[in-house]
Amino acid sequence: MTPLDAAGVLRANWREGVRRDGTRFAFTCPAPRRYKHQWYWDSCFHAVAWSRVDPARAREELRTLVRAGRSDGFVPHTAFWQASPRWRRAPLYATARVLGDAATSSIQTPLLAVAWERAAAEDRTFIAEGLAPLAAHARWLARERDPDGDGLITIMLPDESGLDDSPKYDAVYGRLAHWRPGHARLVQRCRRARWSARTYVAGCDEHVEDVLVNVAHALSLRALFRMSGDVEWAERASRVETALLERCWDPRRGLFFDLAGRHERRVEVSTWSSLAPLALGDALPRDVRERLAEEHLLNPRRYGARFGVPSVSMEEPSFRPGFDAFRTWRGAAWTCTAWLLAGGLRALGAADEADRLAHNALDAIARSGLREYYHPRTGAGHGEHRFGMSALALDLPRGFDPAGPGV
Ligand code: GLC
Repeated sequence: MTPLDAAGVLRANWREGVRRDGTRFAFTCPAPRRYKHQWYWDSCFHAVAWSRVDPARAREELRTLVRAGRSDGFVPHTAFWQASPRWRRAPLYATARVLGDAATSSIQTPLLAVAWERAAAEDRTFIAEGLAPLAAHARWLARERDPDGDGLITIMLPDESGLDDSPKYDAVYGRLAHWRPGHARLVQRCRRARWSARTYVAGCDEHVEDVLVNVAHALSLRALFRMSGDVEWAERASRVETALLERCWDPRRGLFFDLAGRHERRVEVSTWSSLAPLALGDALPRDVRERLAEEHLLNPRRYGARFGVPSVSMEEPSFRPGFDAFRTWRGAAWTCTAWLLAGGLRALGAADEADRLAHNALDAIARSGLREYYHPRTGAGHGEHRFGMSALALDLPRGFDPAGPGV
């Protein structure tokens, strides 16, 4: 796989046109066969990759994502620009009505401001264009998705983190888990609550203050601060970072854990989300980040695999690194995982380790092409082919920088 092939996949997956109501769209579909719509965090990763080869498309993709949202700052998990979900899948989509909506009413890991800042690197006027919608989005998340006001945002559905079937959700959601038939009932509950997190958590205990989601939230707030210079965003970011440290950090295990339900039970399953705070860079104490890196990420018994970063610790009983037609994020390695965590290592001064990690992930892509995910021990590719998120390969050598792209 050469960088050129990654650009070729992005180009082949590019979709543009005008929706029936006259709204223009331009985005990269995650995979032409199975994922035809626009997904929030995929678009953020696509934009990072596009920034390397065609920055104008990065900007168009992010504009389209904002256009899929509402003026109050809500931005959806999935937008259906070209076709509505088919009747068989429609009951499972997190839409307000079962049929006919243009987007879901759910969210996905909020990396929009991070991607926006990156896409603005070549065109600073893009920053000014983004400030109002990005600020509205950040305020919406804090207002609508932090029902207990502790600074950490809450997800109602497991796929709101992007880690749909992660074993960390098994005990929290039980029969309502994303990969189980009861999931349709969970979506139905959210519809009944009219997608208000406040209403939902008052009646249902299946919800999570998710580490990865809050890391992304904090990173986006920091990006918003750098782009606007407005200290409000730095203060908000530090509130999220402090909450993560005070409430999710487990000094005994040296990992961050999600908090589930109204009693905020720690979900003690080691997944890559437990390591994601490494990407916060200097915002977290150095010794905490060193423990994440040394005891876990680089440990060959846990996450130190030959081909990328496993999505679940290899020591967990639930670790399943191979293909599963119905369940994802249960052990296989995704490219976004290596991209984010290599950046965290670099910020720690571990440049060699970061390069090795990036190369390992690139090796899997060289062996198997742009697949949805990879076996972390063999590099075999699984899931969808021509998967846009894996075009992050274009950016892996430079990688994510917690301090921002230096706009
Ligand atoms: C799968 C992944 C999710 C991704 C989506 C589109 O559902 O679990 O993270 O956003 O596919 O690629």
